[in-house]
Amino acid sequence: MSYKEETHVGSKAFALEEFIARAAARSAQRPEPADCVADLAPLMLELIEHSGKFLEPRHCRSDPDGYARNLIHKTPDDSLSLYALVWLPGQWTPVHDHGSWGVVGVVEGTLEEHSYVRISPDRGADTGIELARGGVSLLGRGAVTSFVPNPDHIHVNGVPRERPRVVSLHMYGRMMSSFNIYDLAARTRRRVEVHHNES
Ligand SMILES: [Fe+2]
Repeated sequence: MSYKEETHVGSKAFALEEFIARAAARSAQRPEPADCVADLAPLMLELIEHSGKFLEPRHCRSDPDGYARNLIHKTPDDSLSLYALVWLPGQWTPVHDHGSWGVVGVVEGTLEEHSYVRISPDRGADTGIELARGGVSLLGRGAVTSFVPNPDHIHVNGVPRERPRVVSLHMYGRMMSSFNIYDLAARTRRRVEVHHNES
């Protein structure tokens, strides 16, 4: 679709509907996760630019007890999901991985990411896990990042207490209703259910 056609359509939800349709088509054509996120990252860049058209207060709900996950859209077969995550100052995820590909775009604030690298050789083991600390990324408004499973992308996201809130868009190749969290001291990981607000 051309820019002219897109602006002509101009409905509030159009940017989101168009994104979902194009993301679904591209992900279906790209079974390899690295190919899939390479195709979807530019779409996320566009979605950030149009986020003012479809993000509503219900998508930006926050929680004083921890970062909030607000579902924006899921496909009928649960093969794609899109969330808005809201991080108040000082809120962080646990160390986790997703078991899925993901594409993330920042629409407000600066999202901080700390990466970890699994050193222990058996990627499927839940115990005896040795993690090395990796790099730090500061993702400002307009930034897009992505990850793939196998090997899992292990990380922490959040915002330090001294910085303002962050709102970010997260698309995954499944419903992200559970993920693996890691206990660095115990050298273990376990699957946990994670809550989200329905739209
Ligand atoms: Fe994550």
